[in-house]
Amino acid sequence: MVEKTVESSSGKAPETGGGTRPQRLSQVRSAEGRRLTLGLPEFDRVLGGGLVPGSLVLLGGDPGIGKSTLLLQVALRLAEYGQEVLYVAAEESPEQIKLRADRLGSVSDGVVVLPETALDRVLETAEELRPTMIVVDSIQTVYLTALESSPGSVSQLRDCTAQLLRFAKQTATPIFLVGHVTKEGLIAGPRVVEHMVDVVLYLEGERFYQHRILRAVKNRFGSTNEIGVFEMTDSGLRDVGNPSELFLAERVRDAPGSAVVVALEGTRPILIEVQALTSPAGYGTPRRVATGFDATRLQLLVAVLTKHAGLRLADQDVFVNVTGGIRLVEPAADLGVALAIASSASGIPLDPTAVYIGELGLAGEVRGVHALERRLQEAARLGFERAFVPASSRVASLSAELRLIPISSLAEAVSALAAQAVRSRQNGSELSPG
Ligand code: TYD
Ligand code: MG
Repeated sequence: MVEKTVESSSGKAPETGGGTRPQRLSQVRSAEGRRLTLGLPEFDRVLGGGLVPGSLVLLGGDPGIGKSTLLLQVALRLAEYGQEVLYVAAEESPEQIKLRADRLGSVSDGVVVLPETALDRVLETAEELRPTMIVVDSIQTVYLTALESSPGSVSQLRDCTAQLLRFAKQTATPIFLVGHVTKEGLIAGPRVVEHMVDVVLYLEGERFYQHRILRAVKNRFGSTNEIGVFEMTDSGLRDVGNPSELFLAERVRDAPGSAVVVALEGTRPILIEVQALTSPAGYGTPRRVATGFDATRLQLLVAVLTKHAGLRLADQDVFVNVTGGIRLVEPAADLGVALAIASSASGIPLDPTAVYIGELGLAGEVRGVHALERRLQEAARLGFERAFVPASSRVASLSAELRLIPISSLAEAVSALAAQAVRSRQNGSELSPG
């Protein structure tokens, strides 16, 4: 239990500037077409094709993931095009920002750094300067003097956001808020203001991987499925136009337990390697551990493999890892994950030139997936030669290079795996007679 004092709030509901007269919908001017391009194609795509004037965007993420870097980069890019950006440095000194800008290799007059934590003064400056864009880094360190609670508390966070929202709408200035994801504690997390802002983005990634994924969780101006992939380099974040190539770069071919699946992230298909490992369990219940994949779904797949493909997994630990720190949420990855497990259990490598696409039903049937054609195009583009697809799907082969292999059940796919092992053993003996 935490004691809370109720304060008179200065953050009234945001007004939308000017008169509030009813308008005919047909006469409301559309903001579309006036979007601001940020100069980072991956970022623009996640926003739905650029930044809408007057939008309030929350960028959340773990500390140290690269939020400040990303937004400073955007600020510098806009400044290069002659725009003015107000960067509110509520966490770092201007010297630190300058150091970062030096690393990013561009220092411009257009970026105005304001080392200030009092939001009242931030808004005054913004009013004077009227910049093209404002960055508040971070929303958890600014405060309104009228409130007694400390910066980062729920009431400060809400009221500060409300004030910024009002400013954004009144002046049509887009504002980025940085929010640190925090563990339970005195500082409230960015979730507290998610409902107030127009767009919620999360920058994710494993600390030890170089790439970062920008994900839209909420977007009043675009799709929420879109992701942007960046790579953290010595000079800031770099757009990754071809994420599949990045994710498959370290793939171990010809090793049991590895399968390539095609996940659809927004409108874009991405090829990802799934790895599975089965090993004899110790005492007690065998473990089913998944990284980047739903643990319940893994248990289900293990049950389907046991029941319908005759795999003996009751005394085996099963580990599944989606490489590259990606989270696979789509059932279309089921077939690939299940076959990776079967491959590890049997010690037979899967065909390294094949991709596996299909959802698994409880009866062991392979079910259709949406946007199969787009997935196949990406697989063909990356030079894959065979694609295992649900037999129910009516898709003709897209190219001569990519052969489609219709699969109707998991049992069929697993026996194909065994047949392949026989084939490769025969090929091996042909190659090395004696
Ligand atoms: P930062 O933007 O400060 O993270 P956040 O604002 O989310 O807390 O970036 C943190 C990390 O990024 C830091 O460990 C250093 C690294 N980094 C690079 O690798 N290359 C760069 O060019 C920059 C500016 C930072
Ligand atoms: Mg930061």
